[in-house]
Amino acid sequence: MEQIDIHTDFAVDVLSGLSAKQKFLSSKYFYDEKGSKIFQDIMQMPEYYLTDCELEIFKNSQQEILDAFSENNASFDLVELGAGDGIKTKILLSHFLSQKAKFKYSPIDISEDSVVNLVAELNHDLPELKVNGLIGDYFDLMKKIIPNGYTKKIILVLGSNIGNYNEQMSLEFLGKLKDVLYPQDMLFIGFDMKKDPDVILKAYNDPHGHTTAFNLNLLQRINDELNADFNLENFYHKEEYNPQTGTASSFLISKIEQHITINEFSTTIQFTKGERIFMEISQKYDLDIINELALKSGFEVVRNFFDERLYFTNSLWKLKS
Ligand SMILES: C[S@@+](CC[C@H](N)C(=O)[O-])C[C@H]1O[C@@H](n2cnc3c(N)ncnc32)[C@H](O)[C@@H]1O
Repeated sequence: MEQIDIHTDFAVDVLSGLSAKQKFLSSKYFYDEKGSKIFQDIMQMPEYYLTDCELEIFKNSQQEILDAFSENNASFDLVELGAGDGIKTKILLSHFLSQKAKFKYSPIDISEDSVVNLVAELNHDLPELKVNGLIGDYFDLMKKIIPNGYTKKIILVLGSNIGNYNEQMSLEFLGKLKDVLYPQDMLFIGFDMKKDPDVILKAYNDPHGHTTAFNLNLLQRINDELNADFNLENFYHKEEYNPQTGTASSFLISKIEQHITINEFSTTIQFTKGERIFMEISQKYDLDIINELALKSGFEVVRNFFDERLYFTNSLWKLKS
């Protein structure tokens, strides 16, 4: 298993986010050991429909997905960006193995625990699978993960990963991928579709307290790793959804006027009462937006796989010819 240094990036990003006029933190830092576990709790909430939808798509379309990935049983490399616990991917992996598909699987995640646990589980549950886990930021690892054009690569970006990026960041992400892909390679991306705003808000509006815990855990991580003194009780979580733009936004809000010391930088951060830290977006899409995103970033949509309710799609893309 390979690993790159991520502590320095964390410190620099936290300082620049909390020093900005509109304070923000990067969602890629949610996933330390505790954050990854809380995210598993979120995925299991009945209100968090995204997991069930993607599971349904994989279960119902696993053979069609394999046929689309590999014509005539040709070899391919599956590279998953932000694999998390890989629970949904396992459905595909185990079906592909049962069909004697010739492939390797490389899960990549910035969360060390996610990669270590996933690789250990796969070694146990699917011993015949060839798996190579990579720990680090996939933006840094792009070139490394796709080193040659000899074997077809299928890049998986599942769940709500791409939805955590606004349009500009998505284009940057897809543009970097485009630069390292070869004409036969493909992308397989999960997109959460626009739907009844109540359904969307219920997925993030925390009936079980998991989403609040997930967001506050990043403040705890800053306390632990950068020697800061956030009092978690002085913040609460709020979700907003704009049906026009399809953007769900997540915030932590300061309950009081307060200042926080981050000893790693000998810095004090001031909060007014009601001031927000912008935590992440979860973008929702429609087919026009997906097609446009593909075209703008140099790809074209080959096919979309849907669940029955049309809540979610896994969209298969190839480079624009
Ligand atoms: C929303 S979770 C989804 C996990 C999984 N794809 C799923 O569908 O269940 C996002 C995952 O992407 C990882 N991640 C986010 N940004 C990343 C980055 N820049 N580089 C590597 N991993 C990243 C996180 O650590 C986390 O495990």
